[in-house]
Amino acid sequence: MSVLEESFGALRSPVSDFSEELSGLAGIYQDDVNLMVWQRQLDSDTEKAVFKVLSAGKSFSLNQIVSPENVSDALARRLPNVDGRDALIRDIALLVDAYCCLFDLNTAGLRLTQVDRAMCPRFHVDQVPCRLITTYAGPATQWLDEQSLNRQKLGRGNNGQSDSYSGLIRADADVQQISVGDVALLKGERWEGNEGRGAVHRSPGVDDGQYRLLLTLDMA
Ligand SMILES: [Fe+2]
Repeated sequence: MSVLEESFGALRSPVSDFSEELSGLAGIYQDDVNLMVWQRQLDSDTEKAVFKVLSAGKSFSLNQIVSPENVSDALARRLPNVDGRDALIRDIALLVDAYCCLFDLNTAGLRLTQVDRAMCPRFHVDQVPCRLITTYAGPATQWLDEQSLNRQKLGRGNNGQSDSYSGLIRADADVQQISVGDVALLKGERWEGNEGRGAVHRSPGVDDGQYRLLLTLDMA
């Protein structure tokens, strides 16, 4: 950063941050943080519920505006009716409540999807203010830290080349991956002041016969 930039209070490069507490998600309000992760282990009841829901064999995708008050009923109506699923409903309701509290929202756009292929296989930024992502089963979201990428190669900047050849990923870069159960907040391009600084991420590959259970929350 030049002396001139520093004197005008230019932002530092975006960084990721991690917390072992739910309350740590508030770290997303730091100007230079574009990815905030609550690292956690799913409890065994939730893990079992996820397994049973995925094993019900009904590929499903819920896409609904919910509030902290109605999310449990909405999920109870739409999820496969298997024993023990309440632990998963409770966990999702907790995340809806936390997301709405954090951003002072009455409602959130919830998507809960059983996924058997990479939905967004290329690295990209989201055109949203801030999205919550949790993978309950299967491989979780991958991302690049700022030192590992050349933003000029995002989107059309790739000149028709794959991410492996376009120069988007720097030679010595490590592709980072969020862990199953972790709760990630990803700032997008529409967070005020975050244009050109959105968290760069992609869906992981999914092997044949493998499923992911993916939750996203957006500002409704
Ligand atoms: Fe995305």
